[in-house]
Amino acid sequence: MSKKLLVTSALPYANGPIHLGHIAGAYLPADLFVRYKRLKDTDVVYICGSDEHGVPITIAAEKEGVTPQDIVDKFHEMNKKVFAEFNISFDYYGRTSSDVHRETSQEIFKKLYDDGVFSKKVEEQLYDEEADMFLPDRYVKGTCPNCGYEEAYGDQCEQCGTSLSPNDLIDPVSSLTGNKPITKKTEHLYLPMGKYQKELEEWLDTRENWKPNVMGQVKSWLNDGLSDRAMTRDLTWGVPVPVEGFENKVLYVWFDAPIGYISATKEWAQQQGDPDRWKEYWQDENVELVHFIGKDNIVFHCIIFPMLLMQHGDYVLPENVPANEFLNLEGKKLSTSRGWAVWLNEYLEDFEADLLRYVLGTSLPETKDSDFSWKDFQTKVNSELADVLGNFIFRTTSFTEKYFDGSVPELKDPSEKDKEALEQIEIQKKKIAENYDLYKIREAIAETMNLARIGNKYFTEMEPWKTRKDNPQVCANTLHVCLQISSALSVLFHPVIPRKMNELRQQLGLAENIGWDQVNGNLMKAGEEVEQGEILFQKIEDEEIDEQLQKLKNRAEEMSGGEDSRDYEPLKDEIDFGDFTAIDIRAGKITKAEHIEKADKLLKLTVDVGFETRTIVSGIAPDFDPDDIVGQRVCVVANLAPKALMGVESNGMILMAESADGSLRFVETDAEPGSPIT
Ligand code: MF3
Ligand code: ZN
Repeated sequence: MSKKLLVTSALPYANGPIHLGHIAGAYLPADLFVRYKRLKDTDVVYICGSDEHGVPITIAAEKEGVTPQDIVDKFHEMNKKVFAEFNISFDYYGRTSSDVHRETSQEIFKKLYDDGVFSKKVEEQLYDEEADMFLPDRYVKGTCPNCGYEEAYGDQCEQCGTSLSPNDLIDPVSSLTGNKPITKKTEHLYLPMGKYQKELEEWLDTRENWKPNVMGQVKSWLNDGLSDRAMTRDLTWGVPVPVEGFENKVLYVWFDAPIGYISATKEWAQQQGDPDRWKEYWQDENVELVHFIGKDNIVFHCIIFPMLLMQHGDYVLPENVPANEFLNLEGKKLSTSRGWAVWLNEYLEDFEADLLRYVLGTSLPETKDSDFSWKDFQTKVNSELADVLGNFIFRTTSFTEKYFDGSVPELKDPSEKDKEALEQIEIQKKKIAENYDLYKIREAIAETMNLARIGNKYFTEMEPWKTRKDNPQVCANTLHVCLQISSALSVLFHPVIPRKMNELRQQLGLAENIGWDQVNGNLMKAGEEVEQGEILFQKIEDEEIDEQLQKLKNRAEEMSGGEDSRDYEPLKDEIDFGDFTAIDIRAGKITKAEHIEKADKLLKLTVDVGFETRTIVSGIAPDFDPDDIVGQRVCVVANLAPKALMGVESNGMILMAESADGSLRFVETDAEPGSPIT
């Protein structure tokens, strides 16, 4: 018996609406995979829900001057609805503020605590006396000890990229009251990850077919060595810690959120009228668990959550975690705060879900960041969905309607060409399945479209409009074959564009429940009736695309406060020529780039400056992937005193330009490394 399948998509924070970046990361690929598996008759349950705890929620609430509950109620409903409209086929969409979730997370926490999995530690933390609370890292601002930036957060300085802890800040203030916080001792329960690392590594070694970008990130965390992580927090919003002495604390949001997958499965089972059924998916060997997430969630799903479940002992661990990289928009990093995003509810006001499902599906950021552009959207809808798939179906059904009375003609003495075209159905079906099975969703979609291309080409080459007169049986065979390909497409394309393919099945008079394995060159029988339907895909006009681009631009401007409101840095004090010539700038070339432990923003670069090779630490990690910048030509301040950053000695500085959207660009030169820049 084939294994049961449990698929999850990352629980989105219920603090804002869903945009295309979310969709491309954790939802669309999962939905396609699940729909394919359902067609394969796999017993699958697909789970998601709202992540309703954590600092992101309380920050959103404060911004809007409402309670955290108001925020999560609003966005839970809104997001649930928009996922449904986009045809994301969750079996259950839960929420982490539910009773079942609180009980489930407390139960799991309690067992881990009783089993001695956690260690207790007392640490000094910043405390706001007026607000009467300990301050989460993000709630503390102050001066960065590294670069002097005055608005650094308690977890990170956005200016120089250094990761900080709130105690590092000079002159810290509470962002709640503006007061200077005091330090106060507080006790927390920690997961000593180092202690369980080996066991985790042994399990990871047994994982097969993990994407290199995922395993690579996991390995780099492990190489750095895992440290203790607090599983409890001094907050009031969250799941209360079920342990004596910790009454006024809540579970760390990344402890309770993934347990949301379990509690949502429980609620699903209750809804099915079989409350114990969740155990078949969480506590049974015969199940495969697959988490779809974005790359920023890798450590939680591949290290922390499995480690916790492993120590607990009663739960299955993931078979695979096919995490995606990020989606850019029109060549720029997506940013909700800068208004640079396309929200799904707005998209759906103007276009059908299926169009975006196809276009985004063909450019998912599976192995590296990818880009969504409206122009590309238009091109793919017009030249692939309309001109290839839609055209093929329309030619086939309208020809059948017109010249064969709308019924499937009989196949008699098929030619080699006819047979070959029919065989392509099973050949493509196999390729598509292999790709889905390996989470290569883009490739699966491309191979599906290839079947339509094959059909379209065959139709054109067979010229049925000619054979109709001089060789009617050849014409009949052509249409028979095209109808078989069309009917196969109605199933094989179903995961991607379900609504359109339902329409097509109706046109072709096919049953709704045809499974993947039934697809062959013989789904339709001679004499069955076929309708000429509406054209499946209308082309998108240039004006519609211009409108979207304008909308995007307007919002970005609005949110940045108007067109020419770029805040140019004020000019620094005047210097004389001697000051300038004291700086020795040289041409260089990056020969190696890597991440630095616990410094999200920093990269360690090896730079060829001609006369020697330098190690330079640079705060460009948010803007560049190490792999993409090897070979990059740069300008280097070469006579800067060495400085240790996050334990790495940096010898020089790379010149960068900051553009209007805050992203960084290299200052390039094609002079050979070592050339002085004067
Ligand atoms: N809310 C998190 C985010 O948006 C994802 C949570 S996934 C889960 O990054 F595992 F916690 F459920
Ligand atoms: Zn700084």
